[in-house]
Amino acid sequence: MTISFPAQLKNSAVQTWIADMVALCQPDSIYFCDGSEAEYNLMCQRLVESGTFIKLNEELRPNSYLSRSDPTDVARVENRTYICSISKADAGPTNNWVDPKEMHNTLDGLFAGSMHGRTMYIIPFSMGPLGSPIAQIGIQLTDSAYVVANMRIMARVDAAVWDLLGTEEAFVPCVHSVGAPLAAGQADVPWPSNKETKYIVHFPEERSIWSYGSGYGGNALLGKKCLALRIASKMALDEGWLAEHMLILGVEDPHGEKTYVAAAFPSACGKTNFAMLNPPAEMEGWKVTTIGDDIAWLKPNGSGELRAINPETGFFGVAPGTSYKTNSSAMDACARNAIFTNVALTPEGDVWWEGMTDTPPAEAIDWLGQPWTPGCGRKAAHPNARFTAPASQCPVIDPEWENPAGVPISAIIFGGRRKDTVPLVFQSFNWIYGVYAGATMGSEPTAAAADASTQVRRDPMAMLPFVGYHMASYFNHWLQFGRELPHPPRIFCVNWFRQDETGKWLWPGFGENMRVLKWIVERTHGHAVAIESPIGWMPRYKDFDWRGSDFTHEQFQAVMSVDVEKWKEEVLSHEELFVKLYDRLPKELIGVRELLLSSLWRSPTYWEFL
Ligand code: OXD
Ligand code: MN
Repeated sequence: MTISFPAQLKNSAVQTWIADMVALCQPDSIYFCDGSEAEYNLMCQRLVESGTFIKLNEELRPNSYLSRSDPTDVARVENRTYICSISKADAGPTNNWVDPKEMHNTLDGLFAGSMHGRTMYIIPFSMGPLGSPIAQIGIQLTDSAYVVANMRIMARVDAAVWDLLGTEEAFVPCVHSVGAPLAAGQADVPWPSNKETKYIVHFPEERSIWSYGSGYGGNALLGKKCLALRIASKMALDEGWLAEHMLILGVEDPHGEKTYVAAAFPSACGKTNFAMLNPPAEMEGWKVTTIGDDIAWLKPNGSGELRAINPETGFFGVAPGTSYKTNSSAMDACARNAIFTNVALTPEGDVWWEGMTDTPPAEAIDWLGQPWTPGCGRKAAHPNARFTAPASQCPVIDPEWENPAGVPISAIIFGGRRKDTVPLVFQSFNWIYGVYAGATMGSEPTAAAADASTQVRRDPMAMLPFVGYHMASYFNHWLQFGRELPHPPRIFCVNWFRQDETGKWLWPGFGENMRVLKWIVERTHGHAVAIESPIGWMPRYKDFDWRGSDFTHEQFQAVMSVDVEKWKEEVLSHEELFVKLYDRLPKELIGVRELLLSSLWRSPTYWEFL
């Protein structure tokens, strides 16, 4: 097949790579994407024709579509995700690894002819504002128009990327096939995928990504988890920056002073809600603005100031639980120009999911396409159902969200889902303690998780599925990174999910988290008081702004309490992670563990001050 490249594409490495991939995948046709609105409309029209998209009611949900995936293709597949570094030791014990030569052979076999009967779309995209010193360029080849439409919302798809690539600039090649070639005359299905075989593969030294068999989310929109976290984390290691699973938000105080904060939480801990937090009305003058809800790239600028960008342009948010009560900004963001995947369809032609309204619709079509009624015993939406919405539609998007220089980061928050042990908030003593706290972060599975076990999963910096190299080298990189910053951000830990013995939440969460955030911001500027506890600096009851709240001193003590015996167990379980990462574990973390144990030895005296 002769390929007619766009005139702007003058980079011979790009041309050769595309030609090689066309020869391998053998698509019926090729389409170079330019990211235009007309192109988006064309993709949506094709997807409606193929039955992949259902157009929603134009009045209720303008320019929006519903998609239902194959029931076997509903989430990221961590057990099919590989980091194929040259050396197995470099991938480390937390990643799946296969020798890169062997993996390339496997992939060559799978991709050979994989696009028969389909179009290969060629998507030039930038993660981060085009031309930003923090941005990276990727090119995704895919046989899925659904991916093209979603990528246009999530990343900067733009023909101007060809200009940026000049004749020899570097890019991250991303190859994606749903793994469902069509024989001549074979009819397509609405959600093509490969039920038997899925591979999400990263070659960190080559900086390349190959994804086969899935059309869903992070498996298929390769700019997100694959490029912006797994490959970018390796680039960041080599180049001295950080690619993190963090939201970024701005806190504006009543004087208009802005403080930017980055926060890491494991999947399904309410990151999107925190990023768009709506403060209590009584905390007059305090405002939260959003830069991003999932990924942050942090890089020191020429004067050593830590700056961060959100490399994405959209939200791929979990729909169930999102409502005008829990997150009105997210609801507004997906009010139009949005794509919904695996939610329910109402008789009016709008979408619905569990938790969206207090009263469910009297009837609906569920995510499987079956008739659904509230009492039928099944969920209307899949628990991992998503909305894809443009960040620009978020009413509290920060005016600086597209600043190519990024925003200055003053504080970093680590948070998990812990029913006990971890208090509502504490500040780490210094950067090294903070890295320890992030490294040993844990989370209990949510009720939605398949196994209802309450075992804490250690999810260092919420990056367990996303670090593209050895986890202990990642810890060391964090330590080194902080050493080189003239003013490293202050590090805090939070836990919104503490419960009493009867399973009742001890903290209301959502907008009330503003009280915690305010203390964090004030601490960052050296304005708030804190007292020393064995695990870090803690606020007293009187250090919080309680305007508009009836939360009592006793309730505060319950959610802030540190049980020394539980913490000894906690530190023992940190040891399990450390043993796993023994071959490269930084000595500093062993040192901090010893110090932590020694301060847990005595019953704390800080308690009476809370
Ligand atoms: C996500 C995830 O989808 O972390 O953002 O799983
Ligand atoms: Mn995420």
